[in-house]
Amino acid sequence: MPLQNNTPLSNTDSLLAYDREHIWHPYTSMTEPLPCYAVASAQGVRIKLTDGRELIDGMSSWWAAIHGYNHPVLNEAVELQLKSMSHIMFGGLTHRPAVELAQKLVDLTTEPLQHVFFADSGSVSVEVAIKMAIQYWYAQGFKNKQKLLTVRGGYHGDTLGGMSVCDPVNGMHSMFRDILPQHLFAPQPECNADGSTNIVELESLLNQNQDAICAVIIEPVVQGAGGMHFYCADYLQQLRVLCDRYQVLLILDEIATGFGRTGSLFAYEQAAIVPDILCLGKALTGGYMTLAATMTSKKVVDGISADGSGVLMHGPTFMANPLSCAVANASIELLLSFNWQVNIKRIEQQLKEELEPCRQLFAVADVRIKGAIGVVEVKQPVNMQQLQAAFVEAGVWVRPFNKLVYIMPPYIISTEELTLLSSAIYMVLKKHLS
Ligand SMILES: Cc1ncc(COP(=O)(O)O)c(C=O)c1O
Repeated sequence: MPLQNNTPLSNTDSLLAYDREHIWHPYTSMTEPLPCYAVASAQGVRIKLTDGRELIDGMSSWWAAIHGYNHPVLNEAVELQLKSMSHIMFGGLTHRPAVELAQKLVDLTTEPLQHVFFADSGSVSVEVAIKMAIQYWYAQGFKNKQKLLTVRGGYHGDTLGGMSVCDPVNGMHSMFRDILPQHLFAPQPECNADGSTNIVELESLLNQNQDAICAVIIEPVVQGAGGMHFYCADYLQQLRVLCDRYQVLLILDEIATGFGRTGSLFAYEQAAIVPDILCLGKALTGGYMTLAATMTSKKVVDGISADGSGVLMHGPTFMANPLSCAVANASIELLLSFNWQVNIKRIEQQLKEELEPCRQLFAVADVRIKGAIGVVEVKQPVNMQQLQAAFVEAGVWVRPFNKLVYIMPPYIISTEELTLLSSAIYMVLKKHLS
């Protein structure tokens, strides 16, 4: 059938009109869509709209574009890979970009993590992690260990398995409650000044349900989309001990925190622990393409194989896509080629100084900074549409949700550009929320 070219998409207005009529954006309504901005290009930390305006990016496209946009090194990696092969099925075949990436991930993570499953998105890597944990116990004869234990305030993705371990109240998925597997939830991790934590409630859930729990899943140190909550490494240390004591696996979801965002290459390093299963995504490809990885140890691999089958039940079509693997290799090399720790410290220090004045604003409940993450929590949920427009007017790309106005800029952001971002946050909150 010939294409019906009945809507000329000749200018931005017609693009936006067609978009509004036909395309869903994340968490939006088709009948009452929120306004969208058309992007012409993006370069470094600047997003150029089709109307000519330029915005300084505070979001890194949801934690991913750590090197900024249109980076020559990453472009070259994709172009080079494109010349030999853009995709090839991973069933029965393998290729250099995937093997090199696996080698890098094995080398960069802590020693027991030796095995890699390449998934096509963060959510899928969480699904795979859950399957690994269930299969680990199942193959060893513990067929009832199929439940997960997690904490409130978490976010692990939008697929059914991921949703089932998101915060049951603010996890955006409450309407699916009846079809989701029912898991166990401990209180959100809290750490006191004296070093104590509230892990005792998690322990009692482990104690009561040890025979039913296959794994604990948690975002280490920073809970992202579930509320931008930070907690101490001590909690994770205690959690590791408890997982061993009660014989459940520990899955760490570092999809948001991985690759330097919190100040260490992986957030779990701050607790000096090792997970049994680790999920990576987002910044893995420097934000160029979708790719994620679920890593695990020989202990888990052997457990999965204990019944003689050993087959991990997952295999997506675009698994280990060569373009994605090639750009991930380049992104990791690029990250390690400069002193990224110093850079994250610089961003952290500057965010501490420049977002602190927001605390004085009446509408602000809290200001918190961790690594290259700056969060201003306000007292009431914001009118996202209104604030979004105000930020665009101010020349920055900041996308608040609920009570959170937060930024996690590309690591390459300059001191001047970061000042523009933080001062825009102060000005917009002062003008619109007081
Ligand atoms: C901690 C965490 N886990 C999982 C996901 C899901 O990843 P994706 O959106 O790539 O499916 C996200 C996405 O925001 C995340 O922050």
